[in-house]
Amino acid sequence: MNLLEVKDVGKTYGSVIALREVSTVVNAGEVTCVLGDNGAGKSTLIKILAGVHRHDHGEYTVDGQPVRFTSPREALDRGIATVYQDLAVVPLMSVWRNFFLGSEPTVGFGPFRALDRKKARETTKRALADMGIDLRDVEQPVGTLSGGERQCVAIARAVYFGAKVLILDEPTAALGVKQAGVVLRYVAQAADRGLGVVLITHNPHHAYPVGDRFLLLKRGVALGSYEKADITLPELTRQMAGGAELEALEHELREVKGP
Ligand SMILES: Nc1ncnc2c1ncn2[C@@H]1O[C@H](COP(=O)(O)OP(=O)(O)OP(=O)(O)O)[C@@H](O)[C@H]1O
Ligand SMILES: [Mg+2]
Repeated sequence: MNLLEVKDVGKTYGSVIALREVSTVVNAGEVTCVLGDNGAGKSTLIKILAGVHRHDHGEYTVDGQPVRFTSPREALDRGIATVYQDLAVVPLMSVWRNFFLGSEPTVGFGPFRALDRKKARETTKRALADMGIDLRDVEQPVGTLSGGERQCVAIARAVYFGAKVLILDEPTAALGVKQAGVVLRYVAQAADRGLGVVLITHNPHHAYPVGDRFLLLKRGVALGSYEKADITLPELTRQMAGGAELEALEHELREVKGP
């Protein structure tokens, strides 16, 4: 099922063309990967999807209807949740507090309403366990979690609050090999649960195992868009590295070093 689609979208910041005629789809139960080097336009694309920026060319549709979100809240109301790299968590607050930030369950009513801590703690623990995340203590401050664990909590949170589309901006960028593996497992799990996932990364080795589709951006234009069956990991890596450019560099270096 097609959840999101962009067709020939473009975006300029003043005189800078950040994105030009880019198209892709996000389907339920699938992972669409957006790859590209610094300044390729990855964040610009996801900011359009997430309602942070408006596209100034092309079409953006959600469930087949053209949209122009005026705020991230509007996108969220349509089930499009975004986990930014800095995560926007409150490090000194407990895991469960962060999990429910802004949507705390309450008991009682009117002036007697109070935060239902017990329920919030249990729900957080269960939601994390459902994703296979075993935290020793949901009372510990989020700041004490590893980067990978924080990403996992953010993913579990989006799944729990009913996101249909999950957008992840470079969730593995700052992580070691093992932690990146853990995060990628939850990315795959979110897709298995039927969410459409958009995974931004500049690492083809992270994208390939979990991705169903790969959109390669370079200086704001699509270098290519491939279904997994149409591209191998070595080819994806080669394209990412700029293919021919890298070969020319290799050749050049060989000449410098001599035979
Ligand atoms: N708010 C802005 N105002 C002006 N130019 C911007 C703005 N945001 C991005 N750009 C420019 O648009 C282009 C694409 O930027 P974008 O942040 O989308 O790239 P990116 O692929 O996410 O890069 P990175 O890997 O460094 O995060 C860059 O040339 C950038 O300088
Ligand atoms: Mg970026």
